[in-house]
Amino acid sequence: MSRAPIAIALDAPDLATLRGWVSQTSEYVTTMKVGLEVFCRDGHAAISAARDAATTPVDIFLDLKLHDIPATVAGAARAIASAQPRFLTVHASGGPAMIAAAAEALPDTLITAVTVLTSLDDTDLDAIGLVGPPESAVVRLAKMATAAGARALVCSPQEVAAVRHAVGAGIVLITPGVRPAGGATDDQRRVATPQQAIADGADLLVIGRPITAAADVSLAARTIAASLR
Ligand code: C5P
Repeated sequence: MSRAPIAIALDAPDLATLRGWVSQTSEYVTTMKVGLEVFCRDGHAAISAARDAATTPVDIFLDLKLHDIPATVAGAARAIASAQPRFLTVHASGGPAMIAAAAEALPDTLITAVTVLTSLDDTDLDAIGLVGPPESAVVRLAKMATAAGARALVCSPQEVAAVRHAVGAGIVLITPGVRPAGGATDDQRRVATPQQAIADGADLLVIGRPITAAADVSLAARTIAASLR
């Protein structure tokens, strides 16, 4: 059975929980996402734990959303090179030189630009001074980031069709905010079903709580993966 293009968001309170989620889901999905909270607490050990607990090899998506001067981001990228993540996120708003520096420092990793955080609305964009509305800001940042060397982008399911149209076929589009029909939306405001996100052009779906907070984690992963076939 081929595995579904899903990255499990491993937002776990400790490494034992993280290992349990990985071992119960890795046969159904391609990717494991280690985020800022877990990496700040457990560092490289979290990545090793995700790899070691997998019953079959998985890609690592390191979601650190780096944003600093180019030299510092390049240094941080080199510092995680030994972990060989398939994806590493940076903020697109760090600008083209920063994105290019990350891409040069980690040639074997897909530098993944986060466009506009899904937690920001029109009022927030105004307060920051980013010319909106969100969809036009997302498309503008997506074009800039890919021209600078980003090979993947994070965007919401609502924007994925417009971003695909803007950047073409060669860029990996990754969408969080994915919820099965009728499931709890938690704190995600703009959601789509897994099938809709893929139909709109997403290549990889980030899914956390619909799987990791389920009573049967393995069954939830298997069911959502099967729904994409
Ligand atoms: O549990 P849930 O499916 O909402 O998890 C979504 C994951 O995607 C979380 O790890 C969250 O930090 C991440 N994320 C997001 N929205 C973004 C970028 C990342 O929800 N714009």
